[in-house]
Amino acid sequence: MNPAAAQGLILHAHLATLAADHGYGLIEDGAIAWRKGRIAWLGPTAELPHAYDTLRATAVDAHGALLTPGLIDAHTHLVFAGERAQEFEQRLQGASYEAIARAGGGILATVRATRAADETGLLAASLPRARALLADGVTTLEIKSGYALDLPGETRMLRVARRIGDELGIEVRTTLLGLHALPGEFHSRRADYVREVCTHWLPHLHTEGLVDAVDAFCEGIGFSAAETRALFIAARALGLPVKLHADQLSNLHGAALAAEFAALSADHLECTDAAGVAALAAAGTVAMLLPGSFYVLRETRLPPIAALRAAQVPMAVATDLNPGTAPLRSLRVAMNMACTLFGLTPLEALRGVTVHAARALALNDRGRLAQGLRADLVLWDATAPAELSYWIGGTLARTVIAAGQRVV
Ligand code: NIG
Ligand code: FE
Repeated sequence: MNPAAAQGLILHAHLATLAADHGYGLIEDGAIAWRKGRIAWLGPTAELPHAYDTLRATAVDAHGALLTPGLIDAHTHLVFAGERAQEFEQRLQGASYEAIARAGGGILATVRATRAADETGLLAASLPRARALLADGVTTLEIKSGYALDLPGETRMLRVARRIGDELGIEVRTTLLGLHALPGEFHSRRADYVREVCTHWLPHLHTEGLVDAVDAFCEGIGFSAAETRALFIAARALGLPVKLHADQLSNLHGAALAAEFAALSADHLECTDAAGVAALAAAGTVAMLLPGSFYVLRETRLPPIAALRAAQVPMAVATDLNPGTAPLRSLRVAMNMACTLFGLTPLEALRGVTVHAARALALNDRGRLAQGLRADLVLWDATAPAELSYWIGGTLARTVIAAGQRVV
C-alpha cells in the first residue's frame, strides 16, 4: 500500500457515524482524517487537532454533503455466466419460480452457462456487476459460489470472487454454496452429493484459502434440514462460520437450524415463525433481509419484521444479486425496497447495510465511523441520511474510499 495514498482529510461533511447502538450518530459540520487506511480522527471540523494540519493542503471540502461508512453488501451471487431474462418473461406469463426450477431451468440453467465459462470469461462477466455496486458506495462485498456445482467450477467461481476484490481494491468475503441445487449427474444420488461437498470439496477449498463461510439453500427445491445440518457439522469441524438461505419459499425451520449453529446470518426469512425469530434472537444471528428477490418473485408473504424488531434481532439488508430472483445491481435500491416493501425505516435500512451487515460477515473493523476502524468512506450527493433510501435509480455516491484509498 502506498501510505501517502492511504491518508486524507475531509472537512465540513455531514457525518453519519452510526457509532452508537442506536441512531445515525450525526456530526454536523464534521471532519474525518485517516492514515494508513484507518480512521485517525473524527469530530466537529472546528475541533480538528493541529496534528492533522499537514493533511489540510490536500483536504476535500464536502460543503455539507453526507458522509457515511462504506456500504456492505453481505449476500450476493454475482459471479455467474449468462442471464435468465427468458425466465423473467416466463414468470410474467404465469410460470412459477419453483416450476421453472423443477423443469431443469432456474439455478441449473445458470450452472450450465457457468460451467462452460473459463476463469477469464467468468471474471469479465462478473466484474461489471461488482463495479455497479462499488460505483454507488459498496466497499465490502460477499460473493457465494453455487453456480458450478462441481469442484473445478466452484474453485473457479471462488477464485474469480477473490480476483474481483483485488481488481477493484475492495474486500470480498467468499462463501461456499455447494448445497445450492442438486447437479444433474447426482440425480437420485443426493446423499452422495452432500457427502462429496462435506467431506471433499469443503476441506479442499478451505485449504486453498477460498472459503470464508459456508451456506446452503434449505428449501423444498433445495436441500433438507438434515442435509443442511450435515454440512454445518462439517463446517464447524473446520472452524468455519455458517449462514443459511432460510425459510424463503416454505418453512423448513431454517432460521432455528441456523441459530442452533450460531450462524452469522439467516437470510430471506419470509416464512419464519415466532420460534424461529426467538431462536435468532437467542443466538445473536443477523436476519438478512433480501427484498429484491421478494419483489422479483412478487411474493406476498413478508418476513416477520415487527417480531424481529421486537426481539432486537439485528436486521441487515442485501441485494441477493443473482441471475434468477434478483438481477439487482444496486444496494441502495435494496434499501429503498426494504423501506417500501418491508416497512423498515431509512435508519434501519442504513444500519442494515453498514453496522449489521458488518456483523453478518464477522468484520468488526468497519460498518461505523470511529477511530481505528478501516477508512471505508462514502461522500454522497445528498445531505440527509434518509436520501440514501429515498432516491431510486442512478448513482448518488460522489467519492468512494476503501481502506483509505479512493476507488471511485
Ligand atoms: O438467493 N435461493 C437460492 N439462491 C438465489 C436464487 C438463485 C437463482 O435463482 O439463480 C436466491 O434467491
Ligand atoms: Fe441468495
